[in-house]
Amino acid sequence: MANITRINSQKDLKKLREQIVRKKDPRKTIISVCVGTGCVALGAWKVVDAFKKDLQKKGLKENVDIKLTGCLGSCEHGPRVIIQPNEICYFKVKPEDVSEIISNTVLEKKLVERCLYRDPIKGKIEKKLEDIPFYKYQQRLLLENNARIDPKNIEDYISEGGYEALAKALFDMKSEKIIDEVKKSNLRGRGGGGFPTGIKWDTTKNAPGDTKYVIVNCDEGDPGAFMDRSLIEGNPHIILEGLAIGAYAIGAHEGFIYVREEYPIAVENISLAIKQAEIYGLLGENIMGSGFKFKVKVHRGAGAFVSGESSALMTAIEGKVGEPRPKYVHTAVKGIWNKPSCLNNVETWGNIPIIITNGSEWFRKIGTKGSSGTKIFSLVGKVNNTGLVEVPMGIKLRDLIYEIGGGIREGKKFKAVQTGGPSGGFIPEKYLDLPVDFDELNNVGSMMGSGGLVVIDEDTCMVDIAKYFVDFLLEESCGKCIPCRDGLKVLSNILNGICRGEGKKEDIQIVDDLSETIREASLCALGSTAANPVLTSLEYFKDEWEQHVKEKKCPAKVCKALINYYIEAKKCQACLLCLKECPVNAVHGEKDQVHWIEQEKCTKCGACYDICNFNAVERISGRPVPPPPPKGTKPIRKKGK
Ligand SMILES: Cc1cc2nc3c(=O)[nH]c(=O)nc-3n(C[C@H](O)[C@H](O)[C@H](O)COP(=O)(O)O)c2cc1C
Ligand code: FES
Repeated sequence: MANITRINSQKDLKKLREQIVRKKDPRKTIISVCVGTGCVALGAWKVVDAFKKDLQKKGLKENVDIKLTGCLGSCEHGPRVIIQPNEICYFKVKPEDVSEIISNTVLEKKLVERCLYRDPIKGKIEKKLEDIPFYKYQQRLLLENNARIDPKNIEDYISEGGYEALAKALFDMKSEKIIDEVKKSNLRGRGGGGFPTGIKWDTTKNAPGDTKYVIVNCDEGDPGAFMDRSLIEGNPHIILEGLAIGAYAIGAHEGFIYVREEYPIAVENISLAIKQAEIYGLLGENIMGSGFKFKVKVHRGAGAFVSGESSALMTAIEGKVGEPRPKYVHTAVKGIWNKPSCLNNVETWGNIPIIITNGSEWFRKIGTKGSSGTKIFSLVGKVNNTGLVEVPMGIKLRDLIYEIGGGIREGKKFKAVQTGGPSGGFIPEKYLDLPVDFDELNNVGSMMGSGGLVVIDEDTCMVDIAKYFVDFLLEESCGKCIPCRDGLKVLSNILNGICRGEGKKEDIQIVDDLSETIREASLCALGSTAANPVLTSLEYFKDEWEQHVKEKKCPAKVCKALINYYIEAKKCQACLLCLKECPVNAVHGEKDQVHWIEQEKCTKCGACYDICNFNAVERISGRPVPPPPPKGTKPIRKKGK
């Protein structure tokens, strides 16, 4: 980026791209290290330092480039490193591996086998990314460039064809044509409800008033979700480009990027991207000489889940507390300072350059009839491969969980998957072959949400997890409307009571009725969707609720008040391990005397259960604890012990 000249035309952009590509030597070694949040947490910066030092030591500083990229997807197996040419992909790289990687892979083109991907179940080593199941079943339209781009370098984005869609929009298309193309693409908002993007744009465009705003929603307050953060961190320019195209189509000259403050890398990368785009003439006054002007500001959110709701987010941008307001008139017509304001999710904006470049027809071929394109999910929970995945709409839940996710951890049984964040529903095993799209998920009581996908196994209690999400939403409720503020409080009290073993027979019906009332009467979608986890848990796992209430039994053995631990005398080897581990001295016994647990003292922390090497500690629910063995009972020794 040494001699920057402002881009003053579509031709200038093409010329600059050619120059950048020409300057690149395709044979030169590039070591790309992911410095997305996941890999940074696993020590990526130490790996970067080790590469720099080793290259210096070996006199290779001038021959090898280090590129710092955003998230590559398989964060769990980070820090991730890719070496070009030949795209050698290394996983879980440690500073100690670096010298060998340079000596073997960079200098001698040999692989360092221990850093290659090893299938967590079969143990098989995969050399190519496209052979790794986690990547094989994905279609990475938005995320693909993360591996090639240093998000802090606008020229990397330009060299991949960046800002050419904006140039096409500004010079070759009228605003109506752009909106028409977005409508025809059938792109639906990726932030939750799946509202058709083109229709929203049209509404803002046609709303009265000359001052209009476009906004990116990167609040992402859902626990376990990191799609939008990863996209902004890894490829901020694709979002800016989409936003600028939208602004031009709608007739806005000012835009906001709302990013939560807890996302420092996203804030840093998008702020820098805006500065660079302004310097290159791709944002600001007279963009690429087209006469169109567009300024973008970053608004840092204070980290409240409810502030991700459209009217709350716009209130926050106005400088007030980010609480929702009644939407008698949509924010697309009266938003920030009562001006027409078009809010879209990060991923929605990211799809725009792809649609403008490839056309709506091409885009519509991906996905399902009702939901075109791809969807990014953060796949988390009890699957073997967690991470950031991008799949075509319509993929089966089974493929997402078993092919990409590699199945359930420790060979446990699948119980449910929650889509749609904290107010999404639980989808049971019978729907594993459901094609994932907006309508199909709604039909089974869940929703797409912004893309959190939490996999739940047999060890999860469906009452306890519904309680967890109700408590989360109660905490996050702004308290402005009674159904949400007080309704969730009452719901939480009942659910906590059921989990404490105080549930009454009539509670289940009350929970059902109250959930419906909260859904119907709340001010915003936080309240109106808050009961989804409860309602789907009740619909698909009612027997678990009934067992809690009628038999005081938690079949998953999670609810502390409903479980007990005891030591099976026949299995106990009197090894003293659990006795030493118990933090409250509830385990009694001696060497050569079987141990027993004093129930009154036991806090049910499970430490004895976890540490026993002989599976002698039993966790039970819904049945009485057997009496302790007579004092002095000798262990029945296992052979060889
Ligand atoms: C409580 C609550 C939180 C929300 N949080 C987000 C969020 O973090 N990101 C987002 O894009 N949409 C969020 N939404 C949805 C937004 O209100 C809005 O529908 C969305 O940003 C519109 O963008 P889209 O049309 O591209 O989906 C939230 C909605 C509610 C009710
Ligand atoms: S943060 Fe590095 S792979 Fe996701």
